[in-house]
Amino acid sequence: MRVKRIKIRKTFDAIADRYILANHILSFGQDICWRKKMCEKVSEHLKTNNLVLDIATGTGENFKYCPSKFKTKIGLDPARNMLLKARERFLDVTFVEGMAEELPFKNNLADLILVSFGVRNFENRQKAFREFNRVLKKDGIVAILEFFPMENGTLLNKAAAFYIYKILPYFGGLITGNFDAYKYLSISIQNFVSPEIMKMELEQNNLKVVEKEKIFPDVYIFVAKKE
Ligand SMILES: C[S@@+](CC[C@H](N)C(=O)[O-])C[C@H]1O[C@@H](n2cnc3c(N)ncnc32)[C@H](O)[C@@H]1O
Repeated sequence: MRVKRIKIRKTFDAIADRYILANHILSFGQDICWRKKMCEKVSEHLKTNNLVLDIATGTGENFKYCPSKFKTKIGLDPARNMLLKARERFLDVTFVEGMAEELPFKNNLADLILVSFGVRNFENRQKAFREFNRVLKKDGIVAILEFFPMENGTLLNKAAAFYIYKILPYFGGLITGNFDAYKYLSISIQNFVSPEIMKMELEQNNLKVVEKEKIFPDVYIFVAKKE
């Protein structure tokens, strides 16, 4: 477990400098629309807005799009180089080093937890979801934006699978200078669970899924509420 943790941290530290640029180029700017959509959905369900936590925050990109009305904004990530970039970019946000599975926060604290493209990297999803439940207030919201394994079938799915599994690792490597990191990212999508399994896992931890929308052949937004 410890080895996996160090490996993941190293992987993300290595691509921190060009991570956002690579995201925009590799998704043809779509990642911006996906984040905006996640934030719109969140606004429909939020009741209070004191504290937002962005888990697996990376360089903090979600803070660019998500409700700015929060009094306290915190981003958490284990990769130090990612956090260095985040701190340069968002002066009104507190960034802390940590893991989703061991959140360094009190019970019933957060109104909103965001996670974009982070869940599939967690070493123990069930533990992380338990932590989300602990840290969220009652009626608090967790919003997840994530890639899932491509289903076979339509031509569009086949083309998207070819792009994600074959082309993206190569161009991601070219842009960031780290081919291994993008190979890992592509493999982590192929090896991830289905959206149905993740829904079950959230609900096993008393996070009731109130929205689950496919917004691209392999990209979903989940919104769940602490009951
Ligand atoms: C693909 S990046 C996504 C970053 C950011 N959320 C975004 O949308 O741009 C995945 C992030 O997950 C972080 N990560 C990996 N394992 C984690 C864990 N167990 N708990 C919290 N963050 C983790 C990595 O360090 C990395 O910054």
